[in-house]
Amino acid sequence: MVKKVAILANGGDVSGFNAVIRAIVKTAENNGVECYGFIDGYRGLLKNEYIQLSSANTASGILQKGGSIISSSTNANVFHYKVVDEEGNVTYQDLSEQCVQNVKDDGFDCIFTLGGDSTQKSARDFSLRGIHVIGVPKTIDNDVACTDITFGYNTAVSVATEALDRLHTTAETHHRIMVLEVMGREAGWIALESAIAGGADVALIPEIPYDIEKAAQAIKERQKIGKNFSIVVVSEGAFPKGGDVSIAHERDGGEGVINIQLGGAGEKVAKELEKLTGLTARCTVLGYMQRGGTPTAFDRVLSTKYGSKAMELALEGKFNVLTVIKNGKLDYVDLEEVVGNNKEIGAVQGGTKESNVRIVTMDHDLVKTARDIGINLGD
Ligand code: F6P
Repeated sequence: MVKKVAILANGGDVSGFNAVIRAIVKTAENNGVECYGFIDGYRGLLKNEYIQLSSANTASGILQKGGSIISSSTNANVFHYKVVDEEGNVTYQDLSEQCVQNVKDDGFDCIFTLGGDSTQKSARDFSLRGIHVIGVPKTIDNDVACTDITFGYNTAVSVATEALDRLHTTAETHHRIMVLEVMGREAGWIALESAIAGGADVALIPEIPYDIEKAAQAIKERQKIGKNFSIVVVSEGAFPKGGDVSIAHERDGGEGVINIQLGGAGEKVAKELEKLTGLTARCTVLGYMQRGGTPTAFDRVLSTKYGSKAMELALEGKFNVLTVIKNGKLDYVDLEEVVGNNKEIGAVQGGTKESNVRIVTMDHDLVKTARDIGINLGD
């Protein structure tokens, strides 16, 4: 019988974290289950820092709030945790056993892990050490395996679409190319969907290494019919055929981990298009705007569905799974399936290469639709 559960929010924030938390808390309360929240994701699990969540106070009025009321950590891999001793020496240690002990000592029957691919990988690793976990797929990138959609993604697409609407009028007024760089790591979902929603002329995504000449040609074709402006969406992970991704800087992901921060893809494309078309080009980097602020109605509903389903699964005793949307229906899959080829327990994380992520496939409706209406995909 599940009597006491805890939630942790891990990885980069998205709009919808709080809506999931609220739904779990409400469903828990309606079934006589006590609910807690670890602070700062897996770091809270390690330090055993948590608060009680209740719809009467701590988790009240949060549905429309951005961020996470229990915070989140982007660099807290407890299987490979950075430890600095008094002399300043850095080592990376597997501290997961401490987390397991904390969960057992305080009697949590289930931990809900709200996060992306790395978070769910760690959740799976905890499940193999006897902890009951249930994952909820989060990320603006929409790249978690086994689900059609992650919470936070729809809000990011809406923010990008609004930006494109605003760039449209300034592009037209000044006869310019306006480039918008959006997030997504090595998945082009945000770029592709916002390009369709925002009426872009070119969309460059990581799944299709681009030929800049082809994009420039599409812009020149528009010039021929009197359209002296163009809108270009560039995914942060987009790169030219035979070339490399644009890196803003490398971060300390830990021993053996190259944790790169993408950045610069939009500026690079803008400069090249300016040269090739003769039009002035400007680049806007949308950045963290995509992650913050109030969730869309769609994300509030999706997050609520995910949260209540997660608690329902706990009540049914179905652990070590991820809530998903499969063919439009709310469902769940084994975390083992989500982790995919990334099997090794406690494998070093942080580089994206090890993760099992869902990228845009060439037979996806969005690709076909974009091509049908003449959005140039750089090929
Ligand atoms: O994975 C979500 C995401 O927002 C990516 O789209 C982006 O590349 C990255 O996180 C930025 O991460 P950070 O918060 O560590 O700068």
